[in-house]
Amino acid sequence: MLEVEGLSKSFGGLRAVADLGFSARAGQITSLIGPNGAGKSTAFNLVSGGIAPDRGRVRLSGADVTGWSPPRLQRLGLCRSFQITNLFFDLSVFENVRFAAQARAPRKRLFSRLASLGAPSQEAHALLDQFGLAHLGPAPAKSLSHGDQRRLEIAMCMAGSPQLLLLDEPTQGMSPTETELTKELILKLAAQGVTILLVEHDIELVMSVSNHIIVMQQGSKIAEGPPQQVRDDRRVQEAYLGVVADSESSDA
Ligand SMILES: Nc1ncnc2c1ncn2[C@@H]1O[C@H](COP(=O)(O)OP(=O)(O)OP(=O)(O)O)[C@@H](O)[C@H]1O
Ligand SMILES: [Mg+2]
Repeated sequence: MLEVEGLSKSFGGLRAVADLGFSARAGQITSLIGPNGAGKSTAFNLVSGGIAPDRGRVRLSGADVTGWSPPRLQRLGLCRSFQITNLFFDLSVFENVRFAAQARAPRKRLFSRLASLGAPSQEAHALLDQFGLAHLGPAPAKSLSHGDQRRLEIAMCMAGSPQLLLLDEPTQGMSPTETELTKELILKLAAQGVTILLVEHDIELVMSVSNHIIVMQQGSKIAEGPPQQVRDDRRVQEAYLGVVADSESSDA
């Protein structure tokens, strides 16, 4: 579904992403992990069109989409979870999702007034049901908990049925209960056939949901493989899991 080859991006003298290559297989959950500053978000933005690479290629379903804008990538079936600030905070939860559904509706619908009014509303109801947010439909988006707002962002992303969903730290700032709900949601979307690329700091979540994990350090890939293989990798333990264990023990 997604193939990345020789991707590089420098900011001034800093090589944020250096010769990165990986792929995400259709219908699987692929995760990008690594210590702070490893280049995960930069890689994510290079793939989702937020920034253009200095070098390298991004292919989506075989098509070269390197440097494409986010709206153009969206039309090809890629969606990244919205930043929280992209919600319309004063509008209702339902209106937020309906807007997203309308914006992503196939263009021909615009010529049928009835369809353009009816279809996005139906889609919005269905999405809110699916995401367990139906009871919050009339509430203003600003009244939602942080976890519900993040799930609302994913619901809005799913309007238009993307094939590839990119999530950058979807559980950041969430309580354990909210994290668990988000984990179930990610697994449910994957079970429906959505290909997912996940950047996430919660290592236990990554280990439990991922089919394939790519580990980055200082802009480069240092390991990849299924969860158990990555967990057992000595370089990964030193570079990343060791850091987590140290910080957890120092917190305790
Ligand atoms: N727009 C930018 N301008 C300059 N430097 C940047 C920019 N974006 C990222 N960087 C630098 O590039 C490196 C990689 O950053 P990036 O945000 O991709 O890391 P990350 O793996 O997502 O980290 P985190 O886990 O903290 O989110 C860091 O040293 C960061 O300071
Ligand atoms: Mg980041």
